[in-house]
Amino acid sequence: MYLSKHSAQGQISRTGRRTIFCILLAASSLLAAGCGVRYDMQDQPRYEVYRESDFFDDHSSSRDYPEGTVARGLLKGDKAFYTGKIDNPNPNAPVESTVNAQGNTIVTTFPNMIDEFPIPVTKELIDRGQERYNIYCIVCHGATGNGDGMIVRRGFPAPPTYHDDRLRNAPVGHFFDVMTNGFGKMNSYAAQVQPADRWAIVAYIRALQISQNPDEISKMNANPAANTAAPKGTPAATPGGGH
Ligand code: HEC
Repeated sequence: MYLSKHSAQGQISRTGRRTIFCILLAASSLLAAGCGVRYDMQDQPRYEVYRESDFFDDHSSSRDYPEGTVARGLLKGDKAFYTGKIDNPNPNAPVESTVNAQGNTIVTTFPNMIDEFPIPVTKELIDRGQERYNIYCIVCHGATGNGDGMIVRRGFPAPPTYHDDRLRNAPVGHFFDVMTNGFGKMNSYAAQVQPADRWAIVAYIRALQISQNPDEISKMNANPAANTAAPKGTPAATPGGGH
């Protein structure tokens, strides 16, 4: 009798313990799911972009590259290609200028600028340049480069024509530099137009200049064999394609 009672009590308490365990298990898993006790990689301590930092002496959380290092893909070793300038530009080289009819100061000498395209000029390059020109430049400079684009007709200051002797004789590096750094009232187009496309646009501007120059055209008509001659600033053809 005693034994059987004892064993009955033992049965009940075991069932009770199991029930409590089950309730606790359910509660803890609910807690975990409901309260987000879960850490993902994005939850680690980190700085928002440009956030101030107390850790570094200069209080900037953005760090410079270690001196002498270059991030992969950002080595701009080909100076001519990336700047349109000669290798050792002389910062003191005199720049001459004149004032045009609209009162704009116009540069007339272009020291330090390269005079030859740093990439081969092909029909594909000129076609690409035409496409890019029609997207980015035509609105102000006009379809032929006369400076009478639609925005200018609506009141934006008129750019100079590409078809005066000054810009016809300007080195190719100058056009590249104008797009890269802006010029007077004109903004830089470096963010919209990548370096290779800037050279494509320069090649197309050279084609426009020939197309609007009666002397060049009559020279071509007089000597059809020269029609394939490359525009001013084109490097001598390199067998095998160059770089
Ligand atoms: C929003 C209008 C506008 C657009 C778009 C524009 N330009 Fe200009 N550009 C100007 C103006 C205005 C000037 C004259 C700036 C001055 O003399 O202050 C100018 C000047 C120039 C010059 C002459 C610089 C000199 O020596 O006189 C060149 C070359 C030129 N732009 C090329 C380009 C090319 C290439 C593009 C397209 C990538 C372009 N521009 C897009 C307005 C524009």
